[in-house]
Amino acid sequence: MGEERIEIGANPEFPTNSQIQNSLPGLENSWVWCEISSKIPENLDEAAVWTTSIKSTALALDVAPSRCHKVDWTRLAGLGRVGEGRGGRLFSRFAGLMRLITAGLLEVLGFDFFFAGERRRKTYRGHMEVYNFIKKKMASRSFLFIYVLVMFSLAGMAFSDLSDDFYHHICPKALPTIKRVVEDAVRKERRMGASLLRLHFHDCFVNGCDASILLDQTSTINSEKTSRANNNSARGFEVIDKIKSEVDKVCGRPVVSCADILAVAARDSVVALHGPSWKVKLGRRDSTTASRTAANDNIPTPFMDLAALIKNFKKQGLDEEDLVALSGSHTLGFAQCFTFRNRIYNETNIDPTFRRQRQANCPRSGGDSNLAPLDPTPALFDSKYFSDLRSKKGLLHSDQALFSGGKTDDLVEKYSKNLGMFSKDFAESMIKMGDIKPLTGKRGQIRVNCRKVN
Ligand code: HEM
Repeated sequence: MGEERIEIGANPEFPTNSQIQNSLPGLENSWVWCEISSKIPENLDEAAVWTTSIKSTALALDVAPSRCHKVDWTRLAGLGRVGEGRGGRLFSRFAGLMRLITAGLLEVLGFDFFFAGERRRKTYRGHMEVYNFIKKKMASRSFLFIYVLVMFSLAGMAFSDLSDDFYHHICPKALPTIKRVVEDAVRKERRMGASLLRLHFHDCFVNGCDASILLDQTSTINSEKTSRANNNSARGFEVIDKIKSEVDKVCGRPVVSCADILAVAARDSVVALHGPSWKVKLGRRDSTTASRTAANDNIPTPFMDLAALIKNFKKQGLDEEDLVALSGSHTLGFAQCFTFRNRIYNETNIDPTFRRQRQANCPRSGGDSNLAPLDPTPALFDSKYFSDLRSKKGLLHSDQALFSGGKTDDLVEKYSKNLGMFSKDFAESMIKMGDIKPLTGKRGQIRVNCRKVN
């Protein structure tokens, strides 16, 4: 689509949407990108934030500013949060609206903090005209009443900055490329699917899904790669590098974040191993820091009991159902001897045959890195992990803890009998996990090399 600039009169009054539609038949079905102040910020990141907020605000308010363009997706490609505004974008529209209305209300009430500092003034300079409009409206009681109603009706809704069509226009080939590289890697080694899934988990649990796990050690970066849970254990970094270089190639420049690559690769891995699919929410940006300490503190250990696991997940905003569903990831992949040695030599709630089988390849001392499958079918996404827990054949102490007379027993039993239910809950919990503290807007960066800060 070429750029089509439409001047709606020189008067910078706000025409209504219907006025615009009258002068531009057919426009009601297309997104209108409306320019409020005269210039798009030069800087791409700023422009992305600015474009989205203007567009969202204008549409949500049912007003349009003086100059509108039909969106030129190719020109705007790379600006970030631009796209066709279906479902997922609804929330960001609300967010823009709420920010403005709140500002207006506060000012009417005598507060003036919203546009207080010069920095904020700059950030929101594009909003000024809509803002003034709101302020005027705010003076009327009926508007105040509507505002309160809107506030209440929106209060229960969850806000998320991510959306599943984030790269739709910026780089439509990004997701198919990730899928292809993941499939190749899994074809070469089935376990790689498990390892990629785990990378996303270990990323999200340490200060959010921001690809901090991928940063190598430097004088300023405390790499998470050598934390207790990851050292000689986390794997798949080369596959992520390959995905990144191929994606940047097809996109023509680095627009896809490493954090998003981790999230998509996790989903594609599960699918490659016959598990469920889900729409990955995207738009995460990459951290400029990492923390080995945070990794040591936040990634759960295989020695935890149920209470500790629940507490650990709760800290990330995940509940007991998420804990059980996500632990179901252990339907895939392997664990090293040192992670389950104590369980197979010293614990009692373990099937004796299973204990002997595992002891055969995991001696009392030595053989620390010898592998055992986490369930009997480590390359297949199925419900055997859960049926094994019911037969006291959980490999890790933390696995068996989910079925040991506590409150998660029921769910383990349900999942063991119902793969469909497990798959559905798993996908939902993966989306929830992927939503942990993403960096969006101007925060973070899109790394050029996933291992290094730009
Ligand atoms: C509930 C707390 C959890 C604990 C204590 C835990 C612990 C572990 C441990 C100790 C291993 C073996 C690592 C090794 O021996 O090198 C492992 C493997 C694995 N974990 Fe977890 N995990 C947990 C939850 C999760 C979650 C939530 C996911 C994914 C969403 C996950 C995915 C995996 C996968 C796929 C593997 C196999 C990796 C491979 O074969 O390379 N785990 N986990």
